[in-house]
Amino acid sequence: MSSPEAKRLKPNSDNMSGPKAIYDAATSSNFELYKSDHAASISDISSYWSELANSKLDWYAPFPNAVSGSFEDGSVSWFAGGKINVCYNAVDRYCNAPYNRGGETAIIWEGDEPTDTKYITYLELQNNVCRVANALKASGVSKGDVVTLYMPMIPELTYTMLACARIGAVHSVIFAGFSADAIADRIEGAKSKWVVTASAGKRGGRDLPLKNICDAAVKKERCVGIVEKVFVFDGMVPNGSGWIEEDIHVRFSDLVDCQRPVCPCEWMDAEDPLFILYTSGSTGKPKGLVHTTGGYALYAMHTTAKSFGIAQQTGPSNGNAPVYACVADAGWITGHTYIVYGPLLNGISTFMFESTPMYPDCGRYWDMVQRHKISVFYTAPTAIRSLMRFGDEAPKKYDLSSLKVLGTVGEPINPAAWQWYYELIGNSKCAVVDTYWQTETGGHVITNLPGVTPMKPGSCTLPCYGIEVIVLDPVTGKEITETEAEGVLVIKQPWPGMARTCLGDHQRYLNVYMKPYPGYYFAGDGCRRDEHGFIWITGRVDDVLNVSGHRIGTAEVESALVAHPAVAQAAVVGIPHEIKGQGICCFTTLAEGFAESDELVKELRNAVRTHIGPFATPDMIIPTSALPMTRSGKIMRRILRKIAAGELDTLGDTSTLLDPSVVGTLSEKVEKLR
Ligand code: PRX
Repeated sequence: MSSPEAKRLKPNSDNMSGPKAIYDAATSSNFELYKSDHAASISDISSYWSELANSKLDWYAPFPNAVSGSFEDGSVSWFAGGKINVCYNAVDRYCNAPYNRGGETAIIWEGDEPTDTKYITYLELQNNVCRVANALKASGVSKGDVVTLYMPMIPELTYTMLACARIGAVHSVIFAGFSADAIADRIEGAKSKWVVTASAGKRGGRDLPLKNICDAAVKKERCVGIVEKVFVFDGMVPNGSGWIEEDIHVRFSDLVDCQRPVCPCEWMDAEDPLFILYTSGSTGKPKGLVHTTGGYALYAMHTTAKSFGIAQQTGPSNGNAPVYACVADAGWITGHTYIVYGPLLNGISTFMFESTPMYPDCGRYWDMVQRHKISVFYTAPTAIRSLMRFGDEAPKKYDLSSLKVLGTVGEPINPAAWQWYYELIGNSKCAVVDTYWQTETGGHVITNLPGVTPMKPGSCTLPCYGIEVIVLDPVTGKEITETEAEGVLVIKQPWPGMARTCLGDHQRYLNVYMKPYPGYYFAGDGCRRDEHGFIWITGRVDDVLNVSGHRIGTAEVESALVAHPAVAQAAVVGIPHEIKGQGICCFTTLAEGFAESDELVKELRNAVRTHIGPFATPDMIIPTSALPMTRSGKIMRRILRKIAAGELDTLGDTSTLLDPSVVGTLSEKVEKLR
């Protein structure tokens, strides 16, 4: 392997001048091949995806047509009429001939304590999934029912997701950091009769009282009459919390244990829903995005293989299978696609990690890489930045030579973090794949491909196969045809992994994604395309914040604040944050009879934690007597953003403000908190 310097492209080679383009094991011929393959894939999406769907997935009944429908009315379907079961494709087929991988590891689980590990083979996975599926069926869950999951990162979470897929139930997983209020909103939104939780989870040495939080959600008025049963996996911690006090609870571990490990698969139409996942938008409550069966499965499988340079495992591994670790939480889309479905559909082993990168110390990730000989490691820039703060010592203590591909997701990665990841963790030998995508896209849509396309630190680079990325002028809505461009990012043609609707509100789906630029899918992100055609995401163009890779709507935080009696008005904006990428800054005016105090600020902070969850805790709360308003009564968030970031020299025009002196008063308050 040559030195990193040698890998930096020389000016004019491949027409890719510029010091920041780096080849990993990519050769220019692979890059040329990508260009022609990508062009072919988008010139005929129907052939491209139907060939893959037929060769990579096992169908119970074939699909007549690959794709139909349009963005305009949100009627896109993939492989409709074809019958398939995702659990069969992710589990059963690997237990049988011709794959014969029943004895191979499907899940490597590492609990909160580094000594707490489990290896679960494909056969064991099949048995466990069937038992959970039978337990759900015995309790009355049937095809099309929505099952809400509020669980720690334990194998039972994966079993339950797959069990739902097996019997045709639709899972709605809620990240275990959400509060009772947030759970209740999602249960109500999905009219979910069934909830699965665990007596407790563990994280960083602390117990998470998941059942108690879940109980508080289920008891809220809006859930009463909706939820029929709460299934509780117990035994996670000694004397688990609260316990069965009402007949709504089912001691699930016992029920599961006495089930038969055989359960037939429900053959689903490719367009039947597979799962719902709630995500934040710029207005209103979080929306439940609906992903369907056949298209999502293919997209998850294909992008896992391509983006991480992994081949589908078609036979016994003979000890040289990749060890793939995505250390996200399965409660987010990253976990759905790249912990559960993508890896298992490829027949590889997937890693489930219950703890945090800081427990018991900041070497945890690297210790895991050494112990499990991890070859693909996938995390978020915020985690890299928080680990960098502790210096180089921790990673240097461990043997990281098993690593081949390093992935990042969730936000743009800053060059310093990229360099640290590439040089220190990857020893300047690994590809760093910067994967851009969203809950809505189901899987990666823009990323470099290891050994195939070059990387540029901070750029997610080039579109995935089958994805036609366009940069539009945000004002005219016209395609910018010049290579160098700055505008909004849209996708021109349907792809199998795209979400099909917002649960119960198709109009909202159309309004948010399809109507802003008719004929295109609008991602909500701005971007720049550089002179080589590489994409650089410049961030959300709506009121959605990205805090440590978590997507939070400013409207959600504002509604949590105004629910407090002391708050008259609230305006929430993002502030640049060294570790989290973005922090949350809240400006509030107070209702009559309330005075500014540290105590009140604490209460407001807690109000946000209670309404959403601890991960949405505001970084700054600034009570004030007035907000910058226009004469017509509109809060000028643009100005608040500048004040919060301390960028007063670029405030722009303030002449339309009702009271321009507000700017000075608020800036002083912000400065004091810095
Ligand atoms: O703004 C983009 C950012 O995260 C948003 C999607 O958030 P969510 O649906 O929660 O999914 C996160 C995990 C896929 C996008 O609209 N984003 C995601 N990946 C990147 C990114 N921004 C820059 N670079 C990325 N690689």
